[in-house]
Amino acid sequence: MTNPPDSLSHGQVSLRRWQPEDAAALLAAVTESLEELRQWMPWADGYDADRATGYLTDCEAQWEAGRAYNYAITVGETIVGSAGLHRRIGEGGLEIGYWVHSDWTGRGIATDAAAALTRAALSLPEITRVEIYHDAANAASGRIPAKLGYTRLGERPTRDLWPSAPSETGTDVVWQITR
Ligand SMILES: CC(C)(COP(=O)(O)OP(=O)(O)OC[C@H]1O[C@@H](n2cnc3c(N)ncnc32)[C@H](O)[C@@H]1OP(=O)(O)O)[C@@H](O)C(=O)NCCC(=O)NCCS
Repeated sequence: MTNPPDSLSHGQVSLRRWQPEDAAALLAAVTESLEELRQWMPWADGYDADRATGYLTDCEAQWEAGRAYNYAITVGETIVGSAGLHRRIGEGGLEIGYWVHSDWTGRGIATDAAAALTRAALSLPEITRVEIYHDAANAASGRIPAKLGYTRLGERPTRDLWPSAPSETGTDVVWQITR
């Protein structure tokens, strides 16, 4: 199994592997974006310092195990969101996830981050497809794979990865791009 690089860049953004030292910046970014994040991200409600520290510890373990590669999205020195590659869609595939700080949305940040991750994923020898899942009501999230040339495969019931968030409908849209 090959891992992607610790840092990536595309357009206006850089991505670098989350580190334990980022806990305060992660907590601030989530807290400042809570109203938007909690609509779609079930983990966001009740976020606190322990959850931020725990997430970063988990990121290290998941990276080392080759299960997930989570990056801070940065513009200059500022952390503006998070994006990652997840090995949870079967052999030959990686799934992209992302969120962006509310002060930074609407400027192509998620699209640039997903472009960097798509390229990195498809550069790994065993990866032949990358997929993006989003709730059917999350139109902004759906714009990212559409803009990057992914194919819309269709809709399916949400996987039970987490309990649902307030705006989620229970139906996901699945997008895919292949090498
Ligand atoms: C979804 C999210 C990641 C988008 O990040 P972003 O950096 O603003 O994304 P981009 O600027 O690259 O693209 C956003 C697109 O959505 C569009 N958009 C924004 N709000 C929208 C809305 N309410 N309805 C429809 N489209 C919308 C923008 O116009 C843009 O499309 P365009 O370039 O065709 O005009 C960000 O809003 C976010 O973090 N939301 C909360 C968490 C979340 O939903 N994460 C994804 C879970 S699958």
